[in-house]
Amino acid sequence: MVLVHSVTRAGDSVIARRRTPGSAVGAAVTPSASPADRATTRPRTETPRLAKFHVPEILFGPGSLSEAAHAAVRLGARRPLLVTDPGLCAAGWPNQLSAHLAEAGLRTSVWDGVTPNPKDHEIAAGHVHYLQENCDVIIALGGGSVIDAAKGIALLAGNGGTILDYEGVDRMALPIPPMVMVPSTSGTGADVSQFCIVTDTARNTKITILGRALVPDMSIVDPQLLTTMPDWLNAATGLDALTHGIEAYVSRAHNPLTDHHALQAIALVGEHLERTMDHPGEEAARTCMAQAALEAGLAFTNAILGAAHAMSHQVGGLLDLPHGVINGVLLPHVIRFNAEPDPHRFVPIAQALGLPGTITPDSDAGAAEAAEWAALEVRRLADELGVPTGLAEIGVGESDIGVLSAMTLADACLSTNPREADQADIETLFRAAM
Ligand SMILES: [Fe+2]
Repeated sequence: MVLVHSVTRAGDSVIARRRTPGSAVGAAVTPSASPADRATTRPRTETPRLAKFHVPEILFGPGSLSEAAHAAVRLGARRPLLVTDPGLCAAGWPNQLSAHLAEAGLRTSVWDGVTPNPKDHEIAAGHVHYLQENCDVIIALGGGSVIDAAKGIALLAGNGGTILDYEGVDRMALPIPPMVMVPSTSGTGADVSQFCIVTDTARNTKITILGRALVPDMSIVDPQLLTTMPDWLNAATGLDALTHGIEAYVSRAHNPLTDHHALQAIALVGEHLERTMDHPGEEAARTCMAQAALEAGLAFTNAILGAAHAMSHQVGGLLDLPHGVINGVLLPHVIRFNAEPDPHRFVPIAQALGLPGTITPDSDAGAAEAAEWAALEVRRLADELGVPTGLAEIGVGESDIGVLSAMTLADACLSTNPREADQADIETLFRAAM
């Protein structure tokens, strides 16, 4: 994989830094050694901990779609199930992939019954299709919803039952079929993650299923697929990637391996997301966003997430809205809440987003100023992308806050938020975001 951005070390922290305006998009950058340019960090005082890092085999680059067929063959496919959705079928990518699979001697069965925020009953229907067609390997071509649905089908194929039986961590006991993921958006990270998010249609909420068995065997990231995304989906998934990077970096479960990818992702989104909106056909910016989504995924699947995602899952389950848009509304408020007792962890995040030199973050007050700048910068980006200013605008009412907050406390993502949060804290956060 080509790393588009430079990464320099300052003290013990890995710092990804945005380029100055006017530098060439997509060009490699030589690490700067200028003291004035060096990010200010605190010396590490934490005791080193064990670090583990789950990751699929990854193939990255324009034109890599055709490799999915070879991957499926290597994984033992004879009758692969291709999970996708009607929008992608209209864009033509599943047909192209089916042709590659046919060239490799594979007879593919296509199932496109997934809608955004995949529902429990859709996964049950996909599982029936998998069984009826005698499939063996699962290939997903799509955004996070398609990929999560494919994971759900794989989980049921190996373990039976209904998808809601597996809410929580490592609830699946038996192996699941091999999975090849081909993401078509630049944000969800589902193609490399151990997460599967499913809408529980009876309770109007999203359940989080976590397990190392859900880490796909292979992720094939072809930036060319991103060019057929509608603008709103590009904006939403880009903000999701930014949220993954920021929440993973400050997570209680972060480690030096995840920090690196988290900061790279933050810097890449900060630099390139707006450009992909203004110049949708430009391959270099799309490739940078594909890398951002990938690195954010590598970070959060290992470091897990935080309060923004724990809250967002509840709003998304209630209103069936784009996940990344909800994150964009919530994230500035969660940054402020988490930075209040200790803002220093947010300094490298602000620097990755291009913290101006007028803010000196080497004191408690300076770090607090940098964290506030990061919150404002996330909101500025959300405004540029047309994200609503508050939850009320997207349909959340005051009467929803109690239930949303109670359900947030039960979400697995809250356990790694850097600051403890009780029901009153979450209610205050929801009200601030209204
Ligand atoms: Fe997300």
